[in-house]
Amino acid sequence: MKKLKVADGIYMLTMNVEDILFEGIWDIANGVTLNSYIVKGDKTAIIDGVVGWDGAPENLYSSMEELGVDPKSIDYLIVNHMEPDHSGWIEDFRKIKDDFTIICTDKAAQLVTSFYGEDKIRIVKEGDTLDLGQGKVLSFHPVPNVHWPDTMYTYEQSTKTLFSCDMFAAFGSMKDHYFDDEMTPEEVEFFEFEGIRYYSNVMTTFTPSLRRAIDKARTLDISIVAPGHGPVYRANPQKIIDDYHRFSLYAQGSGKNQVAILWGSMYGMTKRAVEFVERILQREGVKYTKLEMPLNSESETVAQVFQSAAVIIGTPTYEYNMFPPVAAALSEIGRKKISGKVAFRFGSFGWSGGAEKELAEITEKYKMNWEFLESVEFQGSPKDEHFNQIEARVLELIEKMKEKVVE
Ligand SMILES: Cc1cc2nc3c(=O)[nH]c(=O)nc-3n(C[C@H](O)[C@H](O)[C@H](O)COP(=O)(O)O)c2cc1C
Ligand SMILES: [Fe+2]
Ligand SMILES: [Fe+2]
Repeated sequence: MKKLKVADGIYMLTMNVEDILFEGIWDIANGVTLNSYIVKGDKTAIIDGVVGWDGAPENLYSSMEELGVDPKSIDYLIVNHMEPDHSGWIEDFRKIKDDFTIICTDKAAQLVTSFYGEDKIRIVKEGDTLDLGQGKVLSFHPVPNVHWPDTMYTYEQSTKTLFSCDMFAAFGSMKDHYFDDEMTPEEVEFFEFEGIRYYSNVMTTFTPSLRRAIDKARTLDISIVAPGHGPVYRANPQKIIDDYHRFSLYAQGSGKNQVAILWGSMYGMTKRAVEFVERILQREGVKYTKLEMPLNSESETVAQVFQSAAVIIGTPTYEYNMFPPVAAALSEIGRKKISGKVAFRFGSFGWSGGAEKELAEITEKYKMNWEFLESVEFQGSPKDEHFNQIEARVLELIEKMKEKVVE
């Protein structure tokens, strides 16, 4: 666990967690950090306490001691969000100290009680404050449905620090650098994509609530954004707020000037058309990523589709439906409410077809509102006429996606 000073009287404890399925689903390529913050006045508060993924709290306690904070001196546990990646240590903490107060929203209070049996809770509402002494005053600002209904921001007034929990968070382990001003251009780029991965994998379903949370952040005078996962922003805290706003647009059909090719092929018939599409995109100088199902991870697939202004789907028919791994990926994208993308589908069939029907079912079921160009289906191998049709559609897609580009 790494210990860092964020500002006078404010410390971050952070640890990298790798080789896990985040939320039991997401095979995150570059891990994630869990960040916990300590605010010291006369009284001490810990915000979003974290422990090792295995639940071992000793690491946290010894890290606190190295910062000169006696774990027994902690008066307040501030639970910005009850999800156990932030609150899972409460039960363990109770074993070493039992006179602390949990501070959280009314919705979190019900969860704290039902998950951990805690009842010493102070419920806070918008604008409530907690004076820790020595100039450290915390205020609380609920941001419901930023992931869960219980979530709130905590804001420290003297240092203008926003403890934003899942909001403004990013996946990706932190190796040497923890603050925005320490990052190399490569690290800035790395954490931008890890932010997109986080937003798209974890948060995108709640985009309307995230927009309200962005608006709320903009009403606060912020010098430091200190999230629950990923880097702390102190040189340019507006950047991550603006980035999250841009990501919220990607959730609703905008994207970077690039195409995601979501595809699968059993015997290589559809693959021939995928390779043809690649040659056109290369000729036209359009950036693209290829997501082959089922080989690509779900985390990467959702993130790449999310950040692209256009999506090309290559999928054959399988048992009167779509090739199942492509259907599964598209359904996941639909469940995440990634809407409004410009899209085009092609694929091979043997005798009846059926992929097209399931495409309509999935997009309808999840109300995706994607703007599909007319699909191109071919029996067996694609012929010249199909290649010509595919080329025309891809060129049309490249034109249409220009309206969607936000970078
Ligand atoms: C397990 C399996 C199920 C299939 N089910 C259908 C089907 O229901 N209807 C159909 O038209 N073709 C069906 N096909 C034929 C494929 O769609 C056809 O072989 C196509 O060319 C495969 O394209 P690919 O090589 O890109 O995978 C099926 C093929 C397989 C292997
Ligand atoms: Fe969460
Ligand atoms: Fe989280």
